Amino acid sequence: MRLAVLGATGQTGQHVVNQALQQGHIVTAIVRTPSKLTVHHQNLKVVEGNIFSEESLTPHFKGQDAVISCLGFPMAFISAVTGYTDSMNTALNAMRQAKVNRLISMTSWYTEPNSGTKSSYLIRFLLLPMIRSVLSNMYQMEEVLSKTQDINWTVVRPPGLRNEPATAKEFLTHEGYFVPDDSGNPVGNSVARGDVARFMLSLLNSNAWVKKGVAMTTK
Ligand SMILES: NC(=O)c1ccc[n+]([C@@H]2O[C@H](COP(=O)([O-])OP(=O)(O)OC[C@H]3O[C@@H](n4cnc5c(N)ncnc54)[C@H](OP(=O)(O)O)[C@@H]3O)[C@@H](O)[C@H]2O)c1
Repeated sequence: MRLAVLGATGQTGQHVVNQALQQGHIVTAIVRTPSKLTVHHQNLKVVEGNIFSEESLTPHFKGQDAVISCLGFPMAFISAVTGYTDSMNTALNAMRQAKVNRLISMTSWYTEPNSGTKSSYLIRFLLLPMIRSVLSNMYQMEEVLSKTQDINWTVVRPPGLRNEPATAKEFLTHEGYFVPDDSGNPVGNSVARGDVARFMLSLLNSNAWVKKGVAMTTK
């Protein structure tokens, strides 16, 4: 397939680019700093683009089969985080212009404000309040997508990300804001970035999570 990747220079995005190339996809990495992506491959095109400009993204989206986004924005303490919604609104419009119909984007476990009540004390009372500005904007972005009917989107929600390569572990998935065990408690609290990339790419061959948000982790 022909894939456009946003956030390709990021820690998860680089796994997506590398695995996609290994799987034989043709990848366009749309980045703000091309020199940051050090991978070279005959099926990889690295282009400079502005994720907040429809005019910038549309030409790079033309002819693609899917857009994959691993964008991430830093937490903010005074002003609100808006990068997720702003870039998603832009990307959706550019996809419409370019007639690209498949989008796979990542957010996180616990984007819904009340979904963390079963998490550990450390996560619930320290981590989640600390990153709430990011989670809130991710949640707003998920709401934008949930109202989007004309594009086949999937939101992938991973737990904490470990900087580790892909494994062959089985995926655990749940249509919700975390993956629960049989008692309804979260299964673990982290996953390898390589496995998130592996999961995102696996969705290209599946209609299972189209127009859905899926929490994932590995066994
Ligand atoms: N950390 C965790 O434990 C955790 C857990 C669950 C979910 N997540 C979420 O998962 C996503 C991916 O995480 P990650 O750690 O792989 O991300 P990351 O390494 O921080 O990468 C973020 C990517 O977004 C790009 N980006 C940010 N602002 C941009 C802008 N204004 N214009 C163009 N590109 C921009 C960065 O480009 P540059 O390289 O040019 O900066 C980079 O490619 C993030 O949304 C993160 O919040 C994180």
